[in-house]
Amino acid sequence: MSQAPSSGNVQSNLHETRFFPPSAEFSKQAHIKSIAEYEALHARSIAQPEAFWAEKAADCFWFKKWDKVLEWNSPDAKWFVGGKTNLCHNAVDRQVEEGHGDLVALLWEGEPMPDGRPEVRRLTYKDLQRETSKCANMLKSLGVKKGDVVTIYMPMVPELAIALLSCARIGAVHSVIFGGFSAQAIKDRVEDGQSKIVITADGGWRRGKVVALKDAVDEALKAGSEAANLVTSVVVVNRCNTNPPMVAGRDQAWDALMAKASDVCPCEQLDSEDLAFVLYTSGSTGKPKGIMHAVGGYMVHTAMTAKLSFDLKPGDVYWCTADIGWITGHSYMIYGVLPNKVTSIMYEGAPDAPAQDRFWDIIERHRVTKFYTAPTAIRTFMKWGRELVDKHDLSSLRVLGTVGEPINPEAWIWYNEVVGHGRCPIVDTWWQTETGGHMLTPLPGATTTTPGSCTRPMLGIDMAVVDETGREVPVNEGGILVCRKPWPSMLRGVFGNRERFIETYWSKVPGMYTAGDGARKDENGNFWIMGRIDDIIIVAGHNIGTMEVESGLVSHPAVAEAAVVGYPHDVKGNALAAFCILRRAIPTGAEGEALKKEILGHVRKELGPTSVPDKIFFTEALPKTRSGKIMRRLLKDVVVGKAVGQDVSTLDDRGILDKLAVAVQG
Ligand code: WT7
Repeated sequence: MSQAPSSGNVQSNLHETRFFPPSAEFSKQAHIKSIAEYEALHARSIAQPEAFWAEKAADCFWFKKWDKVLEWNSPDAKWFVGGKTNLCHNAVDRQVEEGHGDLVALLWEGEPMPDGRPEVRRLTYKDLQRETSKCANMLKSLGVKKGDVVTIYMPMVPELAIALLSCARIGAVHSVIFGGFSAQAIKDRVEDGQSKIVITADGGWRRGKVVALKDAVDEALKAGSEAANLVTSVVVVNRCNTNPPMVAGRDQAWDALMAKASDVCPCEQLDSEDLAFVLYTSGSTGKPKGIMHAVGGYMVHTAMTAKLSFDLKPGDVYWCTADIGWITGHSYMIYGVLPNKVTSIMYEGAPDAPAQDRFWDIIERHRVTKFYTAPTAIRTFMKWGRELVDKHDLSSLRVLGTVGEPINPEAWIWYNEVVGHGRCPIVDTWWQTETGGHMLTPLPGATTTTPGSCTRPMLGIDMAVVDETGREVPVNEGGILVCRKPWPSMLRGVFGNRERFIETYWSKVPGMYTAGDGARKDENGNFWIMGRIDDIIIVAGHNIGTMEVESGLVSHPAVAEAAVVGYPHDVKGNALAAFCILRRAIPTGAEGEALKKEILGHVRKELGPTSVPDKIFFTEALPKTRSGKIMRRLLKDVVVGKAVGQDVSTLDDRGILDKLAVAVQG
């Protein structure tokens, strides 16, 4: 909090003057058709939240209706109290019962393209009902009961989606670990969740190679550890035919168990407040937290937001490129999406396998209508060049979404023009693992968008930018991003750590949920995320959002990607250092110096003198978490020359740090 923005003097506003209203043609067919309609609905949803959420909950499936919409004892919320429901029933069985059983629910594409043909599997809603019933019975046969934590460490194959939904079917609590994480991450999470069952696979495909997974599970469960004593069964999907060694009495093949399992298993009638899952935040700082979500509220919020943010209609072909190991995959590939009777695409591999146009090829072949990806991916595609996009017919696309970090205006404009041909509303969705679903986002038929802003609050969501006392700061001034009212998919806690829950989210501003992000709200009511509060740097008394400086750098034609950090400075308190990845080979000598000067001059012009970095380095790569977030704390250490002796367990490529250290000294 020491770096929390004070009101007053934010210097680094990008003065964005480009506005993109939705087309009349799009608005006409949208769920929410105008900004006036949005404003009226939003005002009502904030004035009478319980009536609003009751209405939205009624769109979902309930075995028994709730007695009370909300019980709020800050910071503890109970939603749809007394209601009985099931996430799998709402996502899968309900569609079958309503006559949509033959619609493809999950369209999976594997990475390898043997003989040039993609490997595709289509599972209808009926198929999913059968497979999740079998898998649920399999879990029961291994002794899994309601409330038990099931650890899932899998590649992006249909069995992963089936495993999640099967846990939901019987009220088991899943804890998904991203397949890129290490044995240590598995061990920590198994122990933290006291989990007895692990579902994994021999491996998954990435860039034509097998990424082994079972090996990491074996390593995590090495004799002697607490995890080894806890885990009684490991179920192994065969994806790559690598036949890993199986531990007798513990490991069993998925196929063999599924073959024995009955395909009848009605969904368990769960309490609305029962724990649905735990998901550990990847976190660019500190030890991961197990974020807890409850069944009923998560169901209502994710189904509603998927419908409104992407304007989903039955029959849409929707593709979210995230891994199910992240909350984006949980909410917007599975739980929020399937209730809308659409086809959800799941892709196993890398965007550049076998070639750098794999994504556009998938969109063209499957006639994808709604597409959801991350700014870091978009910047990579920009670097690879628009020719790869132009080669493909993307005319099926209707809405383009982004999530994960602020999208720099350059990338936004490229996405809009090159991918969307100016016809597809861009929805820049702000939310977090902790919020479960979208909190700030344009509604594609209603909101006039502006590059770099995630625009306005979702219906039912009361977002504000405030100071430490909870008072709203004036227009265009930086402050603390909060949610002032409870919402259904809010986290219910941090697994096994009440103190951390209170301390992290509920102790910065009295009575309000603090997201940890800094933001400002402009004269049009649009929100601009300035980055994590820790990434706002006070330079000579001015609050500088590092993300905005990064956007300024990337708007120079030579810069593909940038990361900005603060470091202590005798005169200014803090100064800024910039790391830039170029669109071309790194120039050396005088040519390099000239380019640096030119880029800094450009930032000065765009953002003003206070935002100009004191140091600028060219680099081939940046340290990122596996979910693509830049690890700024490591960059800061590199700048101040501190030996890197800290927790880098979530870092994707450790070699990068050494290269950066050289770049800084050179
Ligand atoms: C943090 C949450 C939510 C799924 C993916 C990340 C940043 C996320 C945006 C956006 C600006 C964004 C925030 C937030 N973030 N979306 N549209 N614009 N920043 O989930 O790992 O829980 O990270 O990601 O800083 O707090 P997560």
